[in-house]
Amino acid sequence: MTPAASTATTGRVIPAVQERATSPESPTVPEPATAREARAAAPDPAAPDRAFSERYLLSPDMVADPYGHLDALRAHAPVHWSPMHHAWLVTGYDQVMRCLRDPVVSADRVRPLMDAVPQGARTDAERAFGILSRWMVFNDPPQHRRLRRVFQEAFAARAVVRYRTFTEKATRAVLARSAVPGRTGDLMADVAKPLPALVFARWLGIPRTDAPAFWYWNARVADLVLGTAQEESEYRASLQALVSLEDYLAGLVDRRRAEPADDLISQVLGEGRVGESVTVEEFVGMLTQMAFAGGETTSNLIANTVLALHTRPGALAAVREDPELVQGAVEETLRLDGPSKMSIRTAARDLDLDGRTVRAGDRIFLVTAAANRDPARFPDPGRFDVRRTGATHLGFGFGAHFCVGAALARLVAVAAVRTLVRDHRGLALADGARLTWQPSLLNRSLTALPVHY
Ligand code: HEM
Repeated sequence: MTPAASTATTGRVIPAVQERATSPESPTVPEPATAREARAAAPDPAAPDRAFSERYLLSPDMVADPYGHLDALRAHAPVHWSPMHHAWLVTGYDQVMRCLRDPVVSADRVRPLMDAVPQGARTDAERAFGILSRWMVFNDPPQHRRLRRVFQEAFAARAVVRYRTFTEKATRAVLARSAVPGRTGDLMADVAKPLPALVFARWLGIPRTDAPAFWYWNARVADLVLGTAQEESEYRASLQALVSLEDYLAGLVDRRRAEPADDLISQVLGEGRVGESVTVEEFVGMLTQMAFAGGETTSNLIANTVLALHTRPGALAAVREDPELVQGAVEETLRLDGPSKMSIRTAARDLDLDGRTVRAGDRIFLVTAAANRDPARFPDPGRFDVRRTGATHLGFGFGAHFCVGAALARLVAVAAVRTLVRDHRGLALADGARLTWQPSLLNRSLTALPVHY
């Protein structure tokens, strides 16, 4: 899960809040007056970062391909104070890991979101921000452990595997509808978006008739959390959507309590922790995070893996020869061009990070997309190797906040890509298609993926 990053197309769904980054292109974004900024205005002449020529991570060329710059930044200083982003950019693998393990590096960052709400929308905001404060991704231990434990069983790989048959059937149905040989289309809209939506609605237990409203509310919540809601009216719509989503899910929890079904909500209720270790309100609050956290990220993983394979004939031939290697292709995509580019944190207290003093309250961008290409951890890091073993990539985060939905995301992405590779051998990227990416600090998200089926 950051303050808003862009004024254009809605960005990804990372389970973290998208931070606003000020930029020459977005002068309207308010600049928080922190002690850090005062320090940045008068940089320490001994600081090693002074010579580095910083790039704005939301400039169009950085959105299109940030990796060369991130490599240079990591080589220059794996921990770098960025006046432009008002944040520490942490790009080294060991340094990111250290932050993800250190309790002083806090995940609690709902307050800056509240601060970004325009005055006129403040009164609507209180309930909505109360809901966000119950999302596990914004909580630190010990609160975080208590909240997360409620979902531990239901998200475990052994529980998620029950959805394999449904996922494979849904994959075949989605592909039969759109991936017609000879047709030209957008794989993002045809396959990558609808498939996770189908699976998640089934897994959460959203009745078919409620699905359109459910996905509408989720899209508006994403605007709020990713910061793409800029106008007061957009904020209002997003805040209202979060409240409506909570009301809806509270009603669904009541229904499942009276009449259990085969879905996530019923399973968790059946385990008996709701009302015991967490309140019903906390449970419902966490449910409002699930579709936001998992929907678009999984769509991006499918699209980015298809793109990775279809721009690397050797890797594509290998997975066609042995479809079991699709799993390796999905993992390499998570490492090299995954849906999540960074996680946001703040320093709860002063800390020393690689010889740099991070002050209490400073924002820290843990740039996992850079850490995942750190040559100190990954031999030949730029190579897409479907048989790679060794260090764990950080595409799903690490530590206490490691993505709780990782098993489900892997199940859906592997099913989709394996079926495409096995049954759609004629699939190719459309000639001359220009790919564009959503302008987001957090998400690596194509706007479309034009293909010939
Ligand atoms: C390819 C798909 C996905 C990617 C790349 C992804 C990525 C991530 C990352 C990087 C984090 C850590 C955030 C942080 O440290 O601040 C995270 C956390 C989380 N993810 Fe995912 N995610 C994916 C799919 C899912 C799915 C399918 C679900 C649920 C249905 C989900 C639910 C969550 C939740 C609830 C958290 C917060 C965990 C915690 O705070 O303990 N994610 N995800």
